Amino acid sequence: MHIPVLLNEVVENLNLSDSKKVLDCTLGGGGHTLEILRQYPEIAILGIEWDPMLARDFKEKHGDKITIVNDSYVNLKNICREHNFQPDAILFDLGLSSWHYEESGRGFSFRKDEMLDMRFNPERGGLTAAQIINTYDSRELERILREYGEEDFARNISLAVVNARKEKPVISVSELVGIVETAVPEWYKHKKIHFATKTFQSLRIAVNGELENVKKGANDAIEVLKSGGRIAAISFHGLEDKILKELFRAKAKENIIRLINKNVVKPQWQEIMANPRSRSAKLRVAEKI
Ligand SMILES: C[S@@+](CC[C@H](N)C(=O)[O-])C[C@H]1O[C@@H](n2cnc3c(N)ncnc32)[C@H](O)[C@@H]1O
Repeated sequence: MHIPVLLNEVVENLNLSDSKKVLDCTLGGGGHTLEILRQYPEIAILGIEWDPMLARDFKEKHGDKITIVNDSYVNLKNICREHNFQPDAILFDLGLSSWHYEESGRGFSFRKDEMLDMRFNPERGGLTAAQIINTYDSRELERILREYGEEDFARNISLAVVNARKEKPVISVSELVGIVETAVPEWYKHKKIHFATKTFQSLRIAVNGELENVKKGANDAIEVLKSGGRIAAISFHGLEDKILKELFRAKAKENIIRLINKNVVKPQWQEIMANPRSRSAKLRVAEKI
């Protein structure tokens, strides 16, 4: 089950009341949305979720409580227009849900031997992780690993992938993990973070265009937000946080928003103990002027 991260901090910082309209751009299992509804039962929520299975599941369970749209938040301007919805509060809880790792069967986790898909929305097409691995040239693979994974052994891994696929296509998690294992030095395999972590992160980001999505989504969110409304964004790695930090700073300089917290809000140790996945979370909040 997905445990919502920085739950109290998000609800407090969004400055909510029953008469307000909330746009949850990354609905997932609805952890944040359901807590907002519990505290403000009359509030109107529009939830966007790109994954069709999660969107369907939420609709079945709670479809009477909020409006749910199965789409990418990069289309949020159109979605808000179509639903005549101008939000007073907007939430982004970026990345993926625990469900993706544990149950989706799409190869997000290096601990489960599944096919390398990694698409949030397989119903809308787009390249799978396996297609990228088997068709991109070594330079492009290296760029993905370096830029999206900050992987020091990007070159070794990309060359090992290209070598391995000459024998047979690389289609499963275990095959990819095995290739990474042969490409990195011994000491790298004994670090706290698993040696395939960055490879898997970078492929997922490439498959879903995650960094471009955050840039466009957060920018458009600030545009549609009501004056005096708040935007809260939780990120889980430095690349996403950098995009948010730069965007918020630039918009603050233009007097479009004001920053609510001088520093990012991070989980307390109690939350990290209860939910280790929260340890890398950073929350940024801003208010539209
Ligand atoms: C961290 S989870 C959200 C969890 C949710 N806040 C909760 O507490 O249950 C992020 C969700 O965003 C979804 N997602 C990722 N990229 C998206 C996009 N571009 N548009 C809409 N949803 C997206 C993922 O499918 C995932 O369900």
